[in-house]
Amino acid sequence: MSTENTIGIFDSGIGGTSIWKEINHLLPYENTIYLADTKNAPYGTKSKDEIIAYSIKNTEFLLNKNAKLVVVACNTATLNAVAVLREKFDVPFIGLEPAIKPAALQSQTKNIGVLATQASIQSENFKNAVLNFPDVNIIPQIGYNLVQLIEQGHIDSPEMDQLLQQYVQPMVEKNIDYLVLGCTHYPYLFDKIKAIVPPTVQIIDSGEAVAKQTKHILESNKALNLSNKMGQNLFYTNGNATVLKSILGFTTNVFESDF
Ligand code: SIN
Repeated sequence: MSTENTIGIFDSGIGGTSIWKEINHLLPYENTIYLADTKNAPYGTKSKDEIIAYSIKNTEFLLNKNAKLVVVACNTATLNAVAVLREKFDVPFIGLEPAIKPAALQSQTKNIGVLATQASIQSENFKNAVLNFPDVNIIPQIGYNLVQLIEQGHIDSPEMDQLLQQYVQPMVEKNIDYLVLGCTHYPYLFDKIKAIVPPTVQIIDSGEAVAKQTKHILESNKALNLSNKMGQNLFYTNGNATVLKSILGFTTNVFESDF
């Protein structure tokens, strides 16, 4: 199934639905196609070359379904692959950088935490982003296994609680006042993280900013869907769709497809 005049969105799995929700909220008349590369999740433990290869394949899938713009709803794929995608394909790409800039600019304690995947934190782009703020102590923490647990539907599990405590508490002890969620899966852990950090710590992600940027680029390219009919939203996964359906809260137009 494909739709004309559509926004394409991809992630390694279900995490990018946190971005889809923001885009759908801001641009309800747009058609969207969401692609979860579940078979290859997580990307955060893969090499740069593998992440680039998956990202190219995902983009080709979305372009074959008439995407007019592609949102790389995955920090790991953005940091490792979006430059290659921009060179190779002729559509606009919106990437997901961790929200380091707003956190660094607003921090009073000058200590901020960033929770992200291994491939994000070890990427050149991440290291460069940190160098932009020499007066801020940016504390990176790799969220080992968090994405795997979310993909398996184990958000509410003792193992998740224990890992979050282990990753977040040391950053709190270093007096952070901002915690950046640098992976699109992590907004689904917001309530759990909120329960660990003191109320003075702001938890931020890039979802709303990405939705606004998507709108801005479509407006600039005169590519907004001018229809006043609610958009059609299609979801594809190359794995089992059970967890995707449960995180979306609906089952309509959610397809398993071996791409
Ligand atoms: C992953 O697949 O490891 C997570 C993707 C992300 O960084 O958003």
